[in-house]
Amino acid sequence: MRTYSLLFAALVALPLSVCDDFDAVAALASYGVNASNYGNGGQTAILTGQNVSQIVARSDALGCVYSCASLALLFGSVAYPNSTTYNLEEAGYWSAQQSEVEPYCVYQPSSSTDVAIAILLSRLTECPFAIKSGGHAAFANASNIEGGITINLAKLNVIELSADKTYASIGPGNTWYDVYSDLEDYNLTTIGGRVAAIGVGGLTLGGGISFFSGNYGWACDNVYNYEVVTADGLIIDVNYEGSYSDLYYALRGGGNNFGIVTRFDLYTYSQGLMWGGSRVYYINESTPILNAIVEFSNNAPSDPNAALIVAYAYAEGMYLIAVDLEYDLPEANPTIFEDFETIPHITDTTAVQSLSEITLEFNESNPGGYRETYWTATYQVDLDLLQYMVSEYQNQTNTIITAADLEPSFVLQIITTDQLSHMTKYGGNALGLTEAEGPLILLNLAYWWSDPADDEAVLQVCQNIVDNTEAYAKTKGLANEYLYMNYASQYQDVVPSYNTTNHAKLVSIAEKYDPAGVFQRLQPGYFKLNSAPAGSTIS
Ligand SMILES: Cc1cc2nc3c(=O)[nH]c(=O)nc-3n(C[C@H](O)[C@H](O)[C@H](O)COP(=O)(O)OP(=O)(O)OC[C@H]3O[C@@H](n4cnc5c(N)ncnc54)[C@H](O)[C@@H]3O)c2cc1C
Ligand SMILES: *[C@@H]1O[C@H](CO)[C@@H](O)[C@H](O)[C@H]1NC(C)=O
Ligand SMILES: *[C@@H]1O[C@H](CO)[C@@H](O)[C@H](O)[C@H]1NC(C)=O
Ligand SMILES: *[C@@H]1O[C@H](CO)[C@@H](O)[C@H](O)[C@H]1NC(C)=O
Ligand SMILES: *[C@@H]1O[C@H](CO)[C@@H](O)[C@H](O)[C@H]1NC(C)=O
Ligand SMILES: *[C@@H]1O[C@H](CO)[C@@H](O)[C@H](O)[C@H]1NC(C)=O
Ligand SMILES: *[C@@H]1O[C@H](CO)[C@@H](O)[C@H](O)[C@H]1NC(C)=O
Ligand SMILES: *[C@@H]1O[C@H](CO)[C@@H](O)[C@H](O)[C@H]1NC(C)=O
Ligand SMILES: *[C@@H]1O[C@H](CO)[C@@H](O)[C@H](O)[C@H]1NC(C)=O
Ligand SMILES: *[C@@H]1O[C@H](CO)[C@@H](O)[C@H](O)[C@H]1NC(C)=O
Repeated sequence: MRTYSLLFAALVALPLSVCDDFDAVAALASYGVNASNYGNGGQTAILTGQNVSQIVARSDALGCVYSCASLALLFGSVAYPNSTTYNLEEAGYWSAQQSEVEPYCVYQPSSSTDVAIAILLSRLTECPFAIKSGGHAAFANASNIEGGITINLAKLNVIELSADKTYASIGPGNTWYDVYSDLEDYNLTTIGGRVAAIGVGGLTLGGGISFFSGNYGWACDNVYNYEVVTADGLIIDVNYEGSYSDLYYALRGGGNNFGIVTRFDLYTYSQGLMWGGSRVYYINESTPILNAIVEFSNNAPSDPNAALIVAYAYAEGMYLIAVDLEYDLPEANPTIFEDFETIPHITDTTAVQSLSEITLEFNESNPGGYRETYWTATYQVDLDLLQYMVSEYQNQTNTIITAADLEPSFVLQIITTDQLSHMTKYGGNALGLTEAEGPLILLNLAYWWSDPADDEAVLQVCQNIVDNTEAYAKTKGLANEYLYMNYASQYQDVVPSYNTTNHAKLVSIAEKYDPAGVFQRLQPGYFKLNSAPAGSTIS
């Protein structure tokens, strides 16, 4: 075993932690890291050049000085502000808002043990942290942290088929393109994202809608095993059969509240070429398109190979409708999409191609680097409600239409009864959805723009669309409280929306595995068990 000795500066009479009597020093010692000197006086090697008496008042920043310096000493893979590596890390987020957040340091662990040591050091020093997989969560602090340690899982990038090929071990450092293009050599796939650059980590922990969800369910319903680093720095295998089936349930939709997943073992499925692409329609075809969506929601059980995404957008001075159609088999224009074929369209990229090729096409239409916001709502399927939603989207968006580089997308998907039926597999997931409630409309507002001066107006428009469509749906008895984590904004309180029973279960599972609330307190970003990331109102 490696042994390391950390040389901590003299800090007399500091409480080792605010509300945490866990013995992080002993836990670190079990990994061969000697942190026994922390807080007890001793050497100042790590703080060479710094005036300890100035920073003796304990603060997060001070803890991070120690944590980052210790990680640098142990592993080397630490980047500080203004270095080339740090700037590359900052550029590695999809949204500008996440790139603007400035961590005290960025650390890239190479193994689950390295992750465990980082968490234990954070606990010891009270340095807050954030975890980054693909970096596609849109709002600030979701996978980056001001003044703390950002742990980028990029180097945990294994992709390995099990001997019997029934599952693939996938590190959270992979994007879905990496996963799909590798497994295509074996004519296999896993259930994951639809855009090349999305990360395995965030998508799978929040739910994860795939082109194949009609046949197999969401990504979280197709995980055989999670390798997890717990708040106590233990590395455990979490699955339905084993000792941690409660934690397995919690990870199926519970986001970053329960542990850091250092490996996802995902069930594999046979998959050859498929059919798919996008068709663009003029806005005057909106009513036939909405009718076709309603038809699709009714007919979906007749053909679970089909997947549909309808995105209203605005380009070159007009609203347009982009319809993504996918079919799991290499068959062009399957009957279930007949309506979308007969409605006149302007362009059409549908073709028989591989899954990885389709994810590259959709990656092109989702460029990074802009200011971005995602919002969500869930409703029962109803034509009149859909008409109202589209009208509300346009009216609201018209009020900000001159914002620089504005690209306002209003995206409709159906959570089909087939998708819902798979949510009960392996003891069920945490999302609180049942087949009896379906089919459902899943709304995703996805807006990008470029001027920070427009932030508040854009966010307010999205909030208005969600609030007003929800109020209308309520009057018609069509509202559903479910908020999809992967599409929710920082003002939406996701976990409680899963229903009161599931929420209470998640809270008690978190108390069992993380009694000190490490993943609530020291990892403040993203959707916590009891609160929206940025409160409920736009300031
Ligand atoms: C262009 C685009 C396309 C999308 N397409 C789809 C789609 O097809 N289907 C779908 O369902 N969703 C889709 N989404 C939504 C997507 O699922 C979320 O944005 C998701 O959070 C992205 O995951 P990530 O790993 O890239 O993000 P990150 O920002 O890296 O992570 C998101 C959150 O998850 C946490 N996290 C990540 N990995 C781990 C881990 N290993 N352990 C613990 N916590 C972790 C992070 O700390 C963070 O809080 C899309 C989003 C975009 C922007
Ligand atoms: C840990 O480090 C301290 C201070 O440097 C030292 O006194 C102690 O013997 C070390 N413990 C072990 C187990 O090496
Ligand atoms: C360190 O900071 C203290 C308090 O501000 C100050 O009194 C002292 O002179 C500083 N020491 C050095 C070496 O700069
Ligand atoms: C980074 O560089 C800028 C410009 O040179 C400087 O203003 C800033 O203080 C530096 N930041 C850090 C953390 O060193
Ligand atoms: C994958 O499928 C293609 C087309 O059916 C076939 O030609 C190829 O041999 C298969 N590859 C493997 C590894 O089974
Ligand atoms: C729909 O709008 C397009 C573009 O403005 C126009 O060319 C087309 O004739 C319209 N179709 C109908 C049915 O009004
Ligand atoms: C996806 O798009 C991003 C941002 O536009 C780009 O940086 C990245 O290289 C693309 N990924 C792939 C796999 O093409
Ligand atoms: C949108 O504006 C139009 C024109 O003013 C109006 O007729 C319509 O009712 C508005 N839609 C909603 C949902 O308020
Ligand atoms: C909550 O959701 C689960 C499915 O996840 C369902 O079985 C249960 O009945 C729901 N409870 C309530 C109170 O709605
Ligand atoms: C992100 O965190 C910073 C610093 O803690 C805070 O000022 C900011 O409001 C947060 N942003 C969001 C969107 O939560």
